[in-house]
Amino acid sequence: MVSLYFRTVILVFLNSCSAFVPSLKQFRLQSHIFSTQEAKEALISLFEPSLDDILVCPISLEPISRKISFLGSPKESFECSSFGTKYVSNGVYLDLTSNQKSTKPFWERSLQEIVQTDTFRNPWVAFLYERGWRQGFKNAGFPGVDDEFDSLKAFFSASEGSKSILTGNVLDLSCGSGLMARRISKLGTTSRFIAADFSEVMLLETYRRFTGDPLLKIPELIRADVAQLPFKTESFDGIHAGAAMHCWPRLEQSLREVCRVLRPNGKFFATTFKKGAYGVPRQVNDKGGASFRFFEVDELNNLLTSSGFSSVDIEVVGAGCLIARCEK
Ligand SMILES: C[S@@+](CC[C@H](N)C(=O)[O-])C[C@H]1O[C@@H](n2cnc3c(N)ncnc32)[C@H](O)[C@@H]1O
Repeated sequence: MVSLYFRTVILVFLNSCSAFVPSLKQFRLQSHIFSTQEAKEALISLFEPSLDDILVCPISLEPISRKISFLGSPKESFECSSFGTKYVSNGVYLDLTSNQKSTKPFWERSLQEIVQTDTFRNPWVAFLYERGWRQGFKNAGFPGVDDEFDSLKAFFSASEGSKSILTGNVLDLSCGSGLMARRISKLGTTSRFIAADFSEVMLLETYRRFTGDPLLKIPELIRADVAQLPFKTESFDGIHAGAAMHCWPRLEQSLREVCRVLRPNGKFFATTFKKGAYGVPRQVNDKGGASFRFFEVDELNNLLTSSGFSSVDIEVVGAGCLIARCEK
């Protein structure tokens, strides 16, 4: 009788906590499959920090440790398992940018960071992104997101002796408002799916659009700088970066990071702009030029090859869209 009472109390406690803390959802179990011993173990395990398989501290590359505390209400906390650097989740996304970068004041940021990255941290841009902004890329030859998704699926599909990339760990990098992430999520095939972006408002917009469709499973949303990725080396089977490389201020370093977090034979599918896509060729230089960085085919090929990809194929679509299909 006492044991039954004890078990019921633990179950009620776990179930009520799981409503607030996402990672506790695994403990929403039916009481009939839960013995008292299992219930006790589940309760104790809640207080023990667990190390994430993929998420790491962007500074030390040591695993992120997740801890649950019950002071007042249940709260999840995240820190570097070796150095204790703290990271914060706001309930929508986990911010895994290095603290120093995310607090760097406007006047200390390079012109490239301001133009290429900060443009997308503006709430108006996040609002307008799928209300015309992204559709406008068609003028430069972009096929449109549905066609881009078909190309991604074809490239990620099973090849001889290996499973489809889309059944493994997949990262949508610089996910923007989540337009490709929603399509990947709808497939429901990935074992772990992460959507990451540097822009806080883009991540909020991704979340808002996901919650608008009750059939969609929301991916893990991570705030990350592509030049300092908070992911374990060789942790992803496939990475997508749509219309993004021209927005990465530290491009060479970012491409090395993409290659680092991809497993051997993993695949990277990316779209970006060809120089002259909108008529007048523009170029930024290391001191901070005027605009986004558009590419010549050979230039992009060299950049990707020298970042560590063993096979690189660049397709030119229309006047100014480049599709890169790379294998590590
Ligand atoms: C043109 S949008 C592309 C969005 C989406 N992937 C698509 O296919 O339309 C470029 C994205 O790159 C992101 N971005 C810019 N700088 C970044 C950085 N340093 N790290 C990660 N993402 C970055 C922006 O926040 C923005 O969401």
